[in-house]
Amino acid sequence: MNPLNHVAIIMDGNGRWGVKHKNSRNAGHKAGLTTVEKIIKETIKNKIRYLTLYAFSTENWKRPKNEINYLFNLLENFLTTKIVSLNKQNIKLKIIGEKNFSKKLNKLLRHAEKKTINNKKMQINLALNYGSKFELINAFKKMTKSKKKINEKNLVSFLQTKNIPDPDLLIRTGNTKRLSNFLLWQLAYSEIFFEKKLWPDFTEEDYNKIIKKFKNIKRNFGNI
Ligand code: IPE
Ligand code: IPE
Ligand code: MG
Repeated sequence: MNPLNHVAIIMDGNGRWGVKHKNSRNAGHKAGLTTVEKIIKETIKNKIRYLTLYAFSTENWKRPKNEINYLFNLLENFLTTKIVSLNKQNIKLKIIGEKNFSKKLNKLLRHAEKKTINNKKMQINLALNYGSKFELINAFKKMTKSKKKINEKNLVSFLQTKNIPDPDLLIRTGNTKRLSNFLLWQLAYSEIFFEKKLWPDFTEEDYNKIIKKFKNIKRNFGNI
Protein backbone atom coordinates (compact mmCIF):
# COMPACT_ATOMS: atom_id res chain seq x y z
CA MET A 1 0.00 0.00 0.00
CA ASN A 2 1.36 3.40 -0.98
CA PRO A 3 1.83 5.94 1.78
CA LEU A 4 -0.19 9.10 1.15
CA ASN A 5 1.44 12.22 2.45
CA HIS A 6 0.23 14.97 0.15
CA VAL A 7 -2.98 15.44 -1.87
CA ALA A 8 -3.35 18.32 -4.35
CA ILE A 9 -6.73 19.28 -5.77
CA ILE A 10 -7.83 21.38 -8.73
CA MET A 11 -11.31 22.28 -7.53
CA ASP A 12 -13.01 22.82 -10.86
CA GLY A 13 -16.66 23.04 -11.89
CA ASN A 14 -18.14 25.59 -9.48
CA GLY A 15 -19.34 27.93 -12.23
CA ARG A 16 -21.10 25.21 -14.22
CA TRP A 17 -22.72 23.86 -11.05
CA GLY A 18 -24.02 27.31 -10.12
CA VAL A 19 -25.47 27.96 -13.57
CA LYS A 20 -27.13 24.55 -13.65
CA HIS A 21 -28.71 24.75 -10.20
CA LYS A 22 -29.21 28.46 -9.43
CA ASN A 23 -28.56 30.26 -12.69
CA SER A 24 -25.55 32.01 -11.13
CA ARG A 25 -21.86 31.10 -11.30
CA ASN A 26 -21.30 32.75 -7.92
CA ALA A 27 -23.81 30.41 -6.27
CA GLY A 28 -21.53 27.61 -7.46
CA HIS A 29 -18.54 29.17 -5.73
CA LYS A 30 -20.52 29.36 -2.51
CA ALA A 31 -21.54 25.71 -2.78
CA GLY A 32 -17.93 24.81 -3.55
CA LEU A 33 -16.84 26.22 -0.21
CA THR A 34 -18.95 23.60 1.58
CA THR A 35 -17.06 20.92 -0.32
CA VAL A 36 -13.77 22.51 0.75
CA GLU A 37 -14.78 22.14 4.40
CA LYS A 38 -15.87 18.53 3.93
CA ILE A 39 -12.67 17.59 2.15
CA ILE A 40 -10.48 19.25 4.78
CA LYS A 41 -12.24 17.20 7.49
CA GLU A 42 -11.86 14.00 5.49
CA THR A 43 -8.17 14.71 4.87
CA ILE A 44 -7.64 15.02 8.61
CA LYS A 45 -9.55 11.77 9.18
CA ASN A 46 -7.31 10.03 6.68
CA LYS A 47 -4.23 11.38 8.50
CA ILE A 48 -2.87 12.98 5.34
CA ARG A 49 -0.21 15.53 6.25
CA TYR A 50 -0.48 18.02 3.35
CA LEU A 51 -3.48 19.25 1.35
CA THR A 52 -2.95 21.75 -1.47
CA LEU A 53 -6.02 23.45 -2.90
CA TYR A 54 -6.01 25.40 -6.15
CA ALA A 55 -8.37 28.29 -5.44
CA PHE A 56 -7.35 31.04 -7.88
CA SER A 57 -4.88 30.93 -10.77
CA THR A 58 -2.83 33.74 -12.29
CA GLU A 59 -5.06 33.28 -15.35
CA ASN A 60 -8.32 33.66 -13.38
CA TRP A 61 -7.86 37.47 -13.42
CA LYS A 62 -9.36 37.31 -16.92
CA ARG A 63 -12.78 36.63 -15.35
CA PRO A 64 -15.47 39.30 -14.87
CA LYS A 65 -14.83 41.66 -11.95
CA ASN A 66 -18.06 40.68 -10.25
CA GLU A 67 -16.99 37.02 -10.08
CA ILE A 68 -13.48 37.87 -8.87
CA ASN A 69 -14.86 40.13 -6.14
CA TYR A 70 -17.32 37.48 -5.06
CA LEU A 71 -14.57 34.88 -4.79
CA PHE A 72 -12.35 37.09 -2.66
CA ASN A 73 -15.27 38.04 -0.42
CA LEU A 74 -15.97 34.38 0.16
CA LEU A 75 -12.33 33.83 1.01
CA GLU A 76 -12.30 36.78 3.43
CA ASN A 77 -15.35 35.44 5.23
CA PHE A 78 -13.93 31.94 5.32
CA LEU A 79 -10.66 33.11 6.85
CA THR A 80 -12.32 35.42 9.34
CA THR A 81 -14.70 32.77 10.61
CA LYS A 82 -12.53 29.65 10.39
CA ILE A 83 -9.00 30.61 11.31
CA VAL A 84 -9.55 30.18 15.07
CA SER A 85 -10.90 26.69 14.54
CA LEU A 86 -8.12 25.71 12.10
CA ASN A 87 -5.60 26.93 14.63
CA LYS A 88 -7.26 24.98 17.45
CA GLN A 89 -7.07 21.86 15.33
CA ASN A 90 -3.30 22.40 15.01
CA ILE A 91 -3.53 23.08 11.27
CA LYS A 92 -0.98 25.25 9.51
CA LEU A 93 -2.14 27.46 6.65
CA LYS A 94 0.28 28.45 3.92
CA ILE A 95 -0.45 30.57 0.88
CA ILE A 96 1.33 29.74 -2.35
CA GLY A 97 1.08 32.45 -5.02
CA GLU A 98 1.64 36.17 -4.96
CA LYS A 99 -0.26 38.05 -2.27
CA ASN A 100 -1.29 41.12 -4.24
CA PHE A 101 -4.95 41.47 -3.36
CA SER A 102 -6.73 44.22 -1.43
CA LYS A 103 -4.88 45.55 1.62
CA LYS A 104 -7.50 43.92 3.84
CA LEU A 105 -7.16 40.49 2.27
CA ASN A 106 -3.36 40.60 2.16
CA LYS A 107 -3.35 41.44 5.86
CA LEU A 108 -5.81 38.68 6.66
CA LEU A 109 -3.75 36.13 4.75
CA ARG A 110 -0.53 37.17 6.45
CA HIS A 111 -2.25 37.06 9.83
CA ALA A 112 -3.62 33.55 9.17
CA GLU A 113 -0.20 32.28 8.12
CA LYS A 114 1.53 33.84 11.09
CA LYS A 115 -1.01 32.59 13.60
CA THR A 116 -0.74 28.98 12.42
CA ILE A 117 2.94 28.83 11.52
CA ASN A 118 3.94 26.49 14.35
CA ASN A 119 1.04 24.07 13.92
CA LYS A 120 2.08 20.51 13.31
CA LYS A 121 -0.88 18.21 12.70
CA MET A 122 -1.44 19.04 9.06
CA GLN A 123 -0.73 21.77 6.53
CA ILE A 124 -3.17 23.31 4.09
CA ASN A 125 -1.56 25.08 1.15
CA LEU A 126 -3.93 27.47 -0.50
CA ALA A 127 -2.89 28.26 -4.08
CA LEU A 128 -4.09 31.83 -4.60
CA ASN A 129 -3.03 33.94 -7.53
CA TYR A 130 -0.77 30.98 -8.21
CA GLY A 131 0.79 30.10 -11.54
CA SER A 132 3.43 27.46 -11.99
CA LYS A 133 5.22 29.20 -14.87
CA PHE A 134 5.56 32.39 -12.84
CA GLU A 135 6.84 30.39 -9.87
CA LEU A 136 9.47 28.63 -12.01
CA ILE A 137 10.70 31.81 -13.73
CA ASN A 138 11.08 33.46 -10.33
CA ALA A 139 12.94 30.45 -8.95
CA PHE A 140 15.37 30.52 -11.89
CA LYS A 141 15.92 34.25 -11.42
CA LYS A 142 16.66 33.79 -7.71
CA MET A 143 18.91 30.82 -8.35
CA THR A 144 20.94 32.79 -10.91
CA LYS A 145 21.21 35.78 -8.60
CA SER A 146 22.36 33.59 -5.70
CA LYS A 147 25.18 32.22 -7.92
CA LYS A 148 24.33 28.77 -6.60
CA LYS A 149 24.88 25.78 -8.85
CA ILE A 150 21.95 25.06 -11.15
CA ASN A 151 20.62 21.74 -9.94
CA GLU A 152 17.38 20.15 -8.77
CA LYS A 153 17.98 20.66 -5.08
CA ASN A 154 18.74 24.38 -5.44
CA LEU A 155 15.82 25.00 -7.78
CA VAL A 156 13.40 23.34 -5.36
CA SER A 157 14.72 25.57 -2.56
CA PHE A 158 13.51 28.63 -4.52
CA LEU A 159 10.01 27.35 -5.27
CA GLN A 160 7.07 28.55 -3.21
CA THR A 161 6.57 24.93 -2.19
CA LYS A 162 10.02 24.61 -0.60
CA ASN A 163 9.90 22.33 2.47
CA ILE A 164 6.69 20.74 1.16
CA PRO A 165 7.04 17.25 -0.33
CA ASP A 166 5.68 16.80 -3.87
CA PRO A 167 2.04 15.72 -4.12
CA ASP A 168 1.54 11.95 -4.23
CA LEU A 169 -1.92 12.39 -5.64
CA LEU A 170 -3.57 15.02 -7.82
CA ILE A 171 -7.35 15.17 -8.19
CA ARG A 172 -9.11 17.43 -10.70
CA THR A 173 -12.88 17.56 -10.57
CA GLY A 174 -15.13 19.09 -13.24
CA ASN A 175 -14.64 16.65 -16.10
CA THR A 176 -11.67 18.46 -17.65
CA LYS A 177 -8.30 16.82 -18.23
CA ARG A 178 -5.66 19.50 -17.97
CA LEU A 179 -3.28 21.02 -15.41
CA SER A 180 -4.09 24.73 -15.98
CA ASN A 181 -0.65 25.94 -14.86
CA PHE A 182 -0.74 24.11 -11.50
CA LEU A 183 2.46 22.74 -9.89
CA LEU A 184 4.06 21.72 -13.20
CA TRP A 185 7.38 20.81 -11.59
CA GLN A 186 5.97 19.29 -8.40
CA LEU A 187 3.52 16.96 -10.18
CA ALA A 188 6.26 15.21 -12.18
CA TYR A 189 5.56 11.85 -10.48
CA SER A 190 2.10 12.31 -8.95
CA GLU A 191 -0.74 9.89 -9.62
CA ILE A 192 -3.47 11.85 -11.42
CA PHE A 193 -7.21 11.29 -11.10
CA PHE A 194 -9.68 13.20 -13.27
CA GLU A 195 -13.13 13.20 -11.73
CA LYS A 196 -16.26 13.81 -13.79
CA LYS A 197 -18.27 15.38 -10.97
CA LEU A 198 -18.30 19.15 -10.53
CA TRP A 199 -16.54 20.32 -7.35
CA PRO A 200 -19.74 21.15 -5.36
CA ASP A 201 -21.00 17.60 -6.05
CA PHE A 202 -17.76 15.91 -4.97
CA THR A 203 -18.30 13.96 -1.73
CA GLU A 204 -16.22 12.34 1.00
CA GLU A 205 -17.15 9.01 -0.52
CA ASP A 206 -15.77 10.02 -3.94
CA TYR A 207 -12.60 11.22 -2.22
CA ASN A 208 -12.15 8.00 -0.27
CA LYS A 209 -12.68 5.91 -3.40
CA ILE A 210 -9.85 7.74 -5.14
CA ILE A 211 -7.61 7.39 -2.07
CA LYS A 212 -8.27 3.66 -2.01
CA LYS A 213 -7.40 3.31 -5.70
CA PHE A 214 -4.28 5.42 -5.22
CA LYS A 215 -3.07 3.19 -2.40
CA ASN A 216 -3.08 0.14 -4.65
CA ILE A 217 -1.26 1.66 -7.65
CA LYS A 218 2.18 0.32 -8.44
CA ARG A 219 4.33 3.44 -8.37
CA ASN A 220 7.52 2.83 -10.34
CA PHE A 221 9.40 6.15 -10.35
CA GLY A 222 11.24 4.84 -13.38
CA ASN A 223 12.10 1.52 -11.79
CA ILE A 224 10.32 -1.72 -12.67
C1 IPE B 1 -13.17 26.48 -10.24
O1 IPE B 1 -14.44 26.47 -10.74
C2 IPE B 1 -13.00 27.50 -9.17
C3 IPE B 1 -12.19 28.65 -9.57
C4 IPE B 1 -11.49 28.81 -10.67
C5 IPE B 1 -12.16 29.73 -8.63
P1 IPE B 1 -14.78 27.29 -12.06
O2 IPE B 1 -15.24 28.64 -11.66
O3 IPE B 1 -13.64 27.25 -13.02
O4 IPE B 1 -16.00 26.46 -12.62
P2 IPE B 1 -16.29 26.12 -14.12
O5 IPE B 1 -15.14 25.35 -14.64
O6 IPE B 1 -16.45 27.42 -14.84
O7 IPE B 1 -17.53 25.33 -14.08
C1 IPE C 1 -8.20 25.98 -12.67
O1 IPE C 1 -9.52 26.04 -13.08
C2 IPE C 1 -7.97 26.94 -11.56
C3 IPE C 1 -8.65 26.65 -10.32
C4 IPE C 1 -9.37 25.62 -10.03
C5 IPE C 1 -8.44 27.63 -9.30
P1 IPE C 1 -9.95 26.92 -14.34
O2 IPE C 1 -11.38 26.68 -14.54
O3 IPE C 1 -9.50 28.31 -14.18
O4 IPE C 1 -9.10 26.25 -15.52
P2 IPE C 1 -9.25 26.42 -17.08
O5 IPE C 1 -9.09 27.87 -17.40
O6 IPE C 1 -10.59 25.92 -17.46
O7 IPE C 1 -8.17 25.56 -17.64
MG1 MG D 1 -13.17 25.93 -14.54
